[in-house]
Amino acid sequence: MDTVLSGIRSTGSLHLGNYFGAVKNFVKMQHENRCFFFVADYHSLTTHPKPENLQDSVRSVLSEYIASGLDPEVATLYVQSDVPEIPELYLLLNMNAYVGELQRTTTFKEKIRSQPDNVNAGLLTYPVLMCADIIIHNADKVPVGKDQEQNLEMARKFARRFNTMYGVEYFKMPEPYNFGDKLIKVPGLDGTGKMGKSEGNGIFLVDEPSVIRKKVMRAVTDAGPTKPNSKMSEPVKNLFYLLELLSTPDTVQFFREQYKNCTIRYGDLKKQLAEDMIAFTSPVRKRILDIYHDDDYLKKVVRMGAERARASASKTLRDVREIIGFKPF
Ligand code: TRP
Repeated sequence: MDTVLSGIRSTGSLHLGNYFGAVKNFVKMQHENRCFFFVADYHSLTTHPKPENLQDSVRSVLSEYIASGLDPEVATLYVQSDVPEIPELYLLLNMNAYVGELQRTTTFKEKIRSQPDNVNAGLLTYPVLMCADIIIHNADKVPVGKDQEQNLEMARKFARRFNTMYGVEYFKMPEPYNFGDKLIKVPGLDGTGKMGKSEGNGIFLVDEPSVIRKKVMRAVTDAGPTKPNSKMSEPVKNLFYLLELLSTPDTVQFFREQYKNCTIRYGDLKKQLAEDMIAFTSPVRKRILDIYHDDDYLKKVVRMGAERARASASKTLRDVREIIGFKPF
């Protein structure tokens, strides 16, 4: 059984793209692997040093993932800052991470550009903390998006360097877990490409029905088909894709026919799509809110997660300290 680990940024809510993409795969994976999922709240401080609502965003993230199907009884779900072994390993790894290689990391260079007034040391050593996150549980596989591939590469480099430096075969090399074809790409409503947070085209699980209706009705379309069986433009293709994801086969068939014989009215399609989206998200949204307001439950979840994560982490740290040469007096 593989150990799978992933960190979740604590900024931003889940949209349908996340839901049908990574989250759905996490939910499936939890039954087939030893899974660790955690909220990366330390990492958030590299971009939000004075978060107004750190606690609140952690609570939201946990509620959304649990409501989407992550089972805290099955996977180990925890908060990074509840596991002090992680920053200790991070400190030790920092001694063998070189400033030059950290400065050359793409994500660091991007941050220099996006927040020139706050080029902090935490940003520079972001990949080291990420490495600590991963190897503290000796993870085999890390599901990451394209933007995190280099950071994972760095994690492997630091793990390998530790082994070489101290002449051990202690850490495994964490491999990227690529969902490949299994990853459903959900298009956005702006006609361009996929749904994303930075694209600003997301339908969020916590969006109220009125918000969803408004967003869907504003979706980009085209002037409509003028001759039978004409080719679909990208924005309309995207709408049909969403319809296929969220509506019944009959509904999809109905609008496809209408498109083919040029009688389609995009307004009708959008109305139907919005209602089917609402039918889909409403129960999830209700679960999110229920969990979010259940203090006792969430307290239990994070306590249990921290306990399990620390059991695994403290063993690693004990070994690492001994390997480096710290000996009890
Ligand atoms: N850097 C990741 C992101 O921005 C979050 C993260 C932190 C992470 N630690 C991790 C992901 C360890 C995978 C493994 O999305």
